[in-house]
Amino acid sequence: MKPSTTWKKRLIAALLLSLSLVVLLSGCRKESAPSTSGEPTASSAVSGTDGASSPSPDAQSPSPEAHEVDTDPTSVTVLVNKQYALPDNYNPEDLVYPDVPFLFKEKIEKRMMRKEAAAALEKLFAAAKEDGIYLAGVSAYRSHATQTALFNRYVAKDGEEKAKTYSAVPGHSEHETGLAIDVSGSDGKFAAEPSFAGTPEAEWLAAHAADYGYIIRYPEGKDAITGYTYEPWHIRYVGEAIAKDIASKGSTLEEYYGAVPASSQQ
Ligand code: DAL
Ligand code: ZN
Repeated sequence: MKPSTTWKKRLIAALLLSLSLVVLLSGCRKESAPSTSGEPTASSAVSGTDGASSPSPDAQSPSPEAHEVDTDPTSVTVLVNKQYALPDNYNPEDLVYPDVPFLFKEKIEKRMMRKEAAAALEKLFAAAKEDGIYLAGVSAYRSHATQTALFNRYVAKDGEEKAKTYSAVPGHSEHETGLAIDVSGSDGKFAAEPSFAGTPEAEWLAAHAADYGYIIRYPEGKDAITGYTYEPWHIRYVGEAIAKDIASKGSTLEEYYGAVPASSQQ
């Protein structure tokens, strides 16, 4: 009888061992699954800096789309702000004169824009005209030297701290990319002035600019994010997809990239 008792014991021991192995392995899997899926990837970490839209840890919906900050100065989606500067000596290579009215007649620097932005601007102006809104360009491309002269003039007038709330430090202005333009009504009234807000032209731009790839770059109430006071006249070309995304959310390019807030160092 002894040998058979030993066999039974061995069988029970083997069964217990395999049972504990199964429990151990399934336990490991359970533990690792949530921590792997919940871990931020390099790109989702970018969007995670926007506290307002960060999902709660147990959120069922997928994390918000993350967009790596575009720092390529030649890209139409480049982020240029108080935190992100253009490289020294950057000059856009495909500047052209958009075929739209400006408040002045001369073919000078501030009438120029990059080719893709210029073509989109022509469509935007034509669509506005169809709606009985007559727009005019005020100021588009600025070289680094021009932005320097302009910024220095504002500093002399208002002091550096105040000037920085409405004018970019040279190297940090979107006007230097050839992708931004200040727009007014064709009579030039309220051109680049706070009173442009609420005009039919400003309302039209806010409602339709995204259809042509432009965003109102410094929206009302977003000073803490963009670093600038409301500029209903400053539109920036980013392409239709991103413009529509930003406009539909009432957000900013900083929020799109999760680069919030723009540092106030500049
Ligand atoms: N007014 C905008 C912020 C600029 O100077 O580029
Ligand atoms: Zn501007």
